[in-house]
Amino acid sequence: VPLYAVFGNPIAHSRSPQIHSGFAEQLGDAVRYDARLAPVDDFQGGWRAFVSEGGRGANVTVPFKQQAAVLADQLSDRARQAGAVNTLMVGDSGEVIGDNTDGAGLLLDLKRLEAPLADARILVLGAGGAVRGVLGPLLATGPSELVVANRTVEKATALAELFDAMGHIRGCGFEAIEGTFDLVINATSASLAGALPPLPEILFNEGALAYDMMYGATPTVFLQWAQRHGVRCVDGLGMLVGQAAESWYLWRGTRPDTTPVLEALRADLR
Ligand code: ATR
Repeated sequence: VPLYAVFGNPIAHSRSPQIHSGFAEQLGDAVRYDARLAPVDDFQGGWRAFVSEGGRGANVTVPFKQQAAVLADQLSDRARQAGAVNTLMVGDSGEVIGDNTDGAGLLLDLKRLEAPLADARILVLGAGGAVRGVLGPLLATGPSELVVANRTVEKATALAELFDAMGHIRGCGFEAIEGTFDLVINATSASLAGALPPLPEILFNEGALAYDMMYGATPTVFLQWAQRHGVRCVDGLGMLVGQAAESWYLWRGTRPDTTPVLEALRADLR
């Protein structure tokens, strides 16, 4: 049975084994998918041991996405653009290929939700690692404008500069957000602390979608705020399943249906 895994530290609460087991069962393609803990300073050691056991590919989560990028012999364009690797694959000659499926996973979920993308005004809150990986795929959908707003303004303007050639993108602080949006994506880790970035009271267009990359049993403070403004609200559980589906496609060449797996996961979360 082909061996795959997710690496992280901590890793015990990872949902990835459940997601990939769901794909395997759905597609009748038996694989073994482990959750593996690696020491924070020795991801490489954990990976090497895994490969010597016959491991063919892995997902990589906090705090190893940069270490995985360093370890890879080859990087995909999107991994280079994201500056991080969430998917590793052993190639035919034993070379290690690093890719990043986070942006594609978000897009897969936004398309499932029929979110406004082409010609839409999109606002992304945050400018950390999570944002770097999604700006390219978001710009590729052809929004009329993409605004990146962040607490530390320089990080937002630097990202906007980096992605400037790909579309109409602007970086600013929260207080400089102007106009209204069709899609607002929260990618700050403020949700974890139960905090809400200071947002203008008038932010959403008619039919707008509010999306939080975080997820949990209860809505994040950002989604609670958006709910009070009467817009459609979705958390990041679908992005998690989406990035897994894109990794599965790289490894196995088949495309699982994400909906039943997402529904099972949602039921477990409650
Ligand atoms: P990730 O990889 O999840 O993006 P990160 O790179 O540490 O994690 O980035 C965290 C993001 O959340 C940053 O944009 C951070 O803002 P700063 O760049 O100003 O640090 C943002 N963030 C964290 N806590 C926040 C808070 N309480 N209010 C607003 N933004 C916050």
